[in-house]
Amino acid sequence: MTYHNEKLFALKGNIIFTKSKAQFTVFENGYIVCEDGIIADVFEQLPDRYADIHVIDYGDKVIIPGLADLHTHAPQFAFRGLGMDLELLPWLKKYAFKEERKYSDDDYAKSAYETFCRALKKSATTHAAIFATLHNNATNILMELLEKTGVNTFVGKVNMDRNSPEYLIQSTQTSISETDLWIRESLEKYTRTKPILTPRFVPSCTDELMDALGQMALKYKLPVHSHLSENKSEIEWVKQLHPDCSSYSCVYDKYGLFGKAVPTIMAHCVYLTEDELALIKENGVFIAHCPHSNTNVSSGIAPVRELLDRDLNVGLGSDVAAGSSISIFSAISHAVQVSKLYSVIIDKDKEPLTLSEAFYMATKGGGSFWGKAGSFEPGFEMSAVVIDDGELNQLNRFAIEERLERIVYLSTDEQIAAKYVNGKNIMNNN
Ligand code: GUN
Ligand code: FE
Repeated sequence: MTYHNEKLFALKGNIIFTKSKAQFTVFENGYIVCEDGIIADVFEQLPDRYADIHVIDYGDKVIIPGLADLHTHAPQFAFRGLGMDLELLPWLKKYAFKEERKYSDDDYAKSAYETFCRALKKSATTHAAIFATLHNNATNILMELLEKTGVNTFVGKVNMDRNSPEYLIQSTQTSISETDLWIRESLEKYTRTKPILTPRFVPSCTDELMDALGQMALKYKLPVHSHLSENKSEIEWVKQLHPDCSSYSCVYDKYGLFGKAVPTIMAHCVYLTEDELALIKENGVFIAHCPHSNTNVSSGIAPVRELLDRDLNVGLGSDVAAGSSISIFSAISHAVQVSKLYSVIIDKDKEPLTLSEAFYMATKGGGSFWGKAGSFEPGFEMSAVVIDDGELNQLNRFAIEERLERIVYLSTDEQIAAKYVNGKNIMNNN
């Protein structure tokens, strides 16, 4: 029997991935067999039963699982690299809010989001959790464009009904009704682009709004995406706004916006208390570690060794534009770098991250928010990036693991030869 079809095929190349944080799994000149968009298995030699399937031979190239960006802001892509000498709250005021205001104009939104989507499609990212703005039209425009990229995304219309500039705020009722309308319009509309409830952060949402969002999460079975414990001034502000709550996490939890029945991503988590860490573990909340952003807007260094030791769900986020690049390869290198600073400056007993740990967070760690994604184990969705690192290897012969490290630190999007999502090469569909 021959199967020259798209449903069953193999990729051949130098395969590297992380089933667990502790180590890489490597198949030099190996085969990934894909059936109906799912990984059948990975092999050193193609078994006889697959002898006739179509093999796409990538020669000496490196094949990795697609990267997951667990936290980013699409509207902020247009001003990334600005205000990088400011702290979080002044940066929001001076740049982020002013840019997001422009998305009330559909034409501006279309043009800015086209640019963002082009960059996302060219990158090594196959999964992303994305903040839009509070504008329904612009959020729908973003979702339409994202669907065409082929990348799997969660997208959020942002909720803000207090402590925000008058040009970027909605009344509580408007925020609730517009969110409800946007969910009903987008819930079943797309294959790979899904709505996610997005209270911007505690300071920008009243209790009434948070309560309504918690109810919508249950009613529509929607996940949640927000910011948590990013910056010391922000945490102090939350304390003043909610003297009734014992912690920042407790505010989200009070309204059913903190894991358990509702899959939840919380970006940053730099200064969590013992009780918050326990609640995150109990509720299975995903943490998006955003090291570049944490450095740029003076947030601090998240205690990632501690988060991993506790076996929490941790992925990486670019957090554009507090992070200035959407590259999750950069997020991997920044995660390693800041973990070394943590070890040297804050707590010498906390070992810095290894490359496999940081790579795991960028793949299976964040990818797990979508289910079985971010690894090449049987049953996982087949999302993969093929990298031609030939230019980096002209003088020396490196092991596959070393080649991956140099790809993380040195490669550009131009070296991506193919990007598969759910078994389809999305670099081929323009
Ligand atoms: N907290 C509230 N809004 C934002 C934002 O846009 N970026 C970051 N990094 N933190 C936030
Ligand atoms: Fe953010």
